[in-house]
Amino acid sequence: MSYTNNPGYGQGRHVISSDGILVESAAEFAARLRAHFTSPGYTPPLLPAVALEVHALTRQSDVDAAKVVEVMRKDPMLAGRVLKIAQSAAFAPMGAITSLQDAVVRLGLHNLSEIAWEVSLNMRVFRSQAYAESMEIVRRHSTACAHLARMVSSFTSLASEYAFLCGLLHDIGMAAALIVLGERKETATGFDPALLGTALQQCHQEASAVVAGLWKLPADVQLVLGHHHDVVIDGFVHPLAAVVAVADELTRELGMGIMICGHNCDVTSDTALGHARNTLGFDRARMDKLGREAKKLISTLERGAATAAATSEDRPKAQRSAR
Ligand SMILES: [Fe+2]
Ligand SMILES: [Fe+2]
Repeated sequence: MSYTNNPGYGQGRHVISSDGILVESAAEFAARLRAHFTSPGYTPPLLPAVALEVHALTRQSDVDAAKVVEVMRKDPMLAGRVLKIAQSAAFAPMGAITSLQDAVVRLGLHNLSEIAWEVSLNMRVFRSQAYAESMEIVRRHSTACAHLARMVSSFTSLASEYAFLCGLLHDIGMAAALIVLGERKETATGFDPALLGTALQQCHQEASAVVAGLWKLPADVQLVLGHHHDVVIDGFVHPLAAVVAVADELTRELGMGIMICGHNCDVTSDTALGHARNTLGFDRARMDKLGREAKKLISTLERGAATAAATSEDRPKAQRSAR
């Protein structure tokens, strides 16, 4: 392979510390993170059990709403958030929702599963004290991409039940890396922080697939997460990876990309994006339409987030601090 075909070529950087010691390059840093994720001892972030149980229930036919309510009651904070969302104007235009049972019926199982994923990942996985700012960028990007992936998928003939989940989780490897670094207390020491963005760019796609595998998510979801930037698997463009790549690009165009330490660490090449658009049959006019729809959808989400933030200020202090 020529150097010019190597996506990592030119991205490396060696740094000499003040005492003249050569510290690692971004490529070495990324390789160290990669080795950590693929080691037998690696434990991924704890996946909220209730989200998994709700997801499993929604895959069954003839699920009783009472059974779903019973599962959700195991996680009162999650149940409370889901109830709040169900009570929002988007889901409750036909009258008040006063119970979890009402919420489950009104949302429907598929919506409920997506909301449970989004809420529980926001509460339990996209969290880092040491890298709070970077993690918030990843969380915001991932949430936006989930909603856009569902929208992009609806513009194709292959509308996928996993579009939202893949959009939400596609950069989970980046979140997992920030958690690992935070746990190791690798903040301003141990590596050059300026290399963090480059290292995350180089290792996060693979890390996302590793985490999805350890969480035992469906094989197709693992594949898509592991190819969300290159989109080609065994010589063929994976349609759902293409959906995520297009949604990811729309997210960036709307100013919600992932810039960490001044580095855009979530980049898909023009070639891969071209493959994705061609596979999905998206011409210029369709992309323009998607761009307009994406803008409307994101502004709705942002308004919803602002309402949720205002609502959280109304909660008792003890409850807020337990988050
Ligand atoms: Fe992304
Ligand atoms: Fe990514």
